[in-house]
Amino acid sequence: MNYNKKSIEDIEVAGKRVLCRCDFNVPTKNGVITSDKRIVAALPTIQYLVEHKAKVILCSHMGKPKGEWKPELSLKVVADRLSELLGQEVIMAADVAGEDAKAKAAALKEGQVMLLENTRYMKGETKNDPELSKELASMADIFVNDAFGTAHRAHSSTAGVADYLPAVSGYLVQKEVSIMGKALADPERPFVAILGGAKVSDKLNVINNLLEKVDTLIIGGGMAYTFQAAKGSSVGKSLLDESKIDYCKEMMAKAEAKGVKLLLPVDCVVASDFPNPIDGPIEVKTVPVTEIPDDMEGLDIGEKTQAIFAEAVKNAKTVVWNGPMGVFENPTLAKGTIAMAQALADSDATTIVGGGDSAAACEQLGFADKITHISTGGGASLEFLEGLELPGIACLQDK
Ligand code: 3PG
Repeated sequence: MNYNKKSIEDIEVAGKRVLCRCDFNVPTKNGVITSDKRIVAALPTIQYLVEHKAKVILCSHMGKPKGEWKPELSLKVVADRLSELLGQEVIMAADVAGEDAKAKAAALKEGQVMLLENTRYMKGETKNDPELSKELASMADIFVNDAFGTAHRAHSSTAGVADYLPAVSGYLVQKEVSIMGKALADPERPFVAILGGAKVSDKLNVINNLLEKVDTLIIGGGMAYTFQAAKGSSVGKSLLDESKIDYCKEMMAKAEAKGVKLLLPVDCVVASDFPNPIDGPIEVKTVPVTEIPDDMEGLDIGEKTQAIFAEAVKNAKTVVWNGPMGVFENPTLAKGTIAMAQALADSDATTIVGGGDSAAACEQLGFADKITHISTGGGASLEFLEGLELPGIACLQDK
């Protein structure tokens, strides 16, 4: 896939209506935003458009309302926070591409900013319905995609609209694509990838694709137990994806054939049951991975494993990390994930962290500014690592 896309700097925006897709799918609790990271990440593009006298029409989805008008998923909270961050009013439309949005878009003055309602209030959005794409496009002269987190979705507001307007990338999409694209296409070596998370089946193609590129592949988290089983060990009550044991054998053989070092845990932290509540107290012990008792399950990597994984990171020049090493929500079982975050923070390598729990770990520990790049994409960054074409980027004009 060609990642060399035109950006907002390659097109005249002054006086033009610019429809800018952002990923404002931010977490909220009782109607209050709990992390505005994605809003902050969109600021450079919005500020550029404002400073260059565009008439800015922002849009995004939030949650999965599935075509229903769910008031708790209104983007009004985002408009309020964005107004504070920009220091200017963000005009909120009452609908997505209806009468109110169209009237407000038509009345916009240069440098003004408005936000459409949740694009997923419209049934056509996730179907990439051309009618909705046309309606959205009718309000603007230019489409800018700055929603990296949603770039893996072929929806009306992320890709369809590009059929009807000149389409370029915003700064966030440009940054995500250039840092991750370089890491995958032309990494400084040694190149180490760390994968964690619960299930092997979620990362099948990521493992396969990364084995083509890395020098060392580290596998931790729940998915490591299926690899352990593939090596012939019993894993007690640990997470096991039996249907993927042969796949793991294949991947181990592929690693060997390609001369890729595949590092798996040597010890793990076990307990009799999964913690309930997830962050509640739990009694644990550490055992070698080959000696997990039948009535116990592995829930984090052990200290010996932490040291081996950290050593591999220390010697790397490029590190990509996606997925926690254990049940990160529980303080007793978060130590392996914290150790990885620490190893990346201490490293001089180019360090890239995929979204989700591994990104949250780096942020909560205050390491965010010691990591080269923390992606705003969860699913999108995984699909990027799989080597898939992202529709929200493919639809943009090539340079
Ligand atoms: C995300 O949170 O990963 C993006 O906003 C995409 O959301 P989605 O999985 O609901 O499409």
